[in-house]
Amino acid sequence: MKGVVLAGGLGTRLYPLTKITNKHLLPVYDLPMVYYPIMTLREAGIDEILMVTGGNSVGEFLRLMGDGTKFGLRGLHYTYQEREGGIADAIYLARKFVGDDSFCVILGDNILDGSIRECISNFVDGAMIFIKEVDDPREYGVAILDGKKVKGIVEKPEKPPSNYAVIGAYVYTGEVFDIIRKLKPSERGELEVTDVNNEYIKQGRLTYEIFEGYWGDAGASVDALLDVNNYVARRKKEDPNLWRICPNVNIP
Ligand code: G1P
Repeated sequence: MKGVVLAGGLGTRLYPLTKITNKHLLPVYDLPMVYYPIMTLREAGIDEILMVTGGNSVGEFLRLMGDGTKFGLRGLHYTYQEREGGIADAIYLARKFVGDDSFCVILGDNILDGSIRECISNFVDGAMIFIKEVDDPREYGVAILDGKKVKGIVEKPEKPPSNYAVIGAYVYTGEVFDIIRKLKPSERGELEVTDVNNEYIKQGRLTYEIFEGYWGDAGASVDALLDVNNYVARRKKEDPNLWRICPNVNIP
């Protein structure tokens, strides 16, 4: 399985912090935000990753992460999203990298404290999403559950139909590119990952896993960024080995 990290966009919800810098380069405690999803994928056994960048400071990703050796990666690849086309548009840029393989996409501002290794090893076909119960899911995609199935996902609803937020980590096969090709832009003019997942639900081919660990969307707001920073700082003081998945490799 391959990995894709999405690190484009303008990060307007964090203005002016992101006016000149890319959101995913901002600090989460002692490391740049984008390190965390890379380490989550690496811990899950993935060693070929494509970074989709865009917006500000894109060249800085290369200077920061180079060829990925310091993460123990076999290959770290880069591509560039020309426009603010949304998450599904960014995923579409991975089509040549993915080929016929399966792949796990993580949004570059999603910080997971916990492993997805076992869950993704269960993936065979269709699409897999991760969900997490939260107090207020209005900022996220929200899943409507029906026993072992997801009946639908609503993007940022004013009146959430459940408390299950959809985490920014998804598993697909190359087939997803055919679905994205047929998508229509949403009201905000973007190709939405929620529309991709709803298409899999319609086909009866979406599975979900409840993510048991901590999840934070550091890019959702300045307060979310602060909360995630405080959480990570506390956890790393408790356990300095956390997010140090390559013991022989010195990160940063
Ligand atoms: C995106 C997705 C949303 C998901 C969230 C997780 O929203 O559209 O469904 O719940 O990521 O972080 P964004 O935060 O990019 O607006």
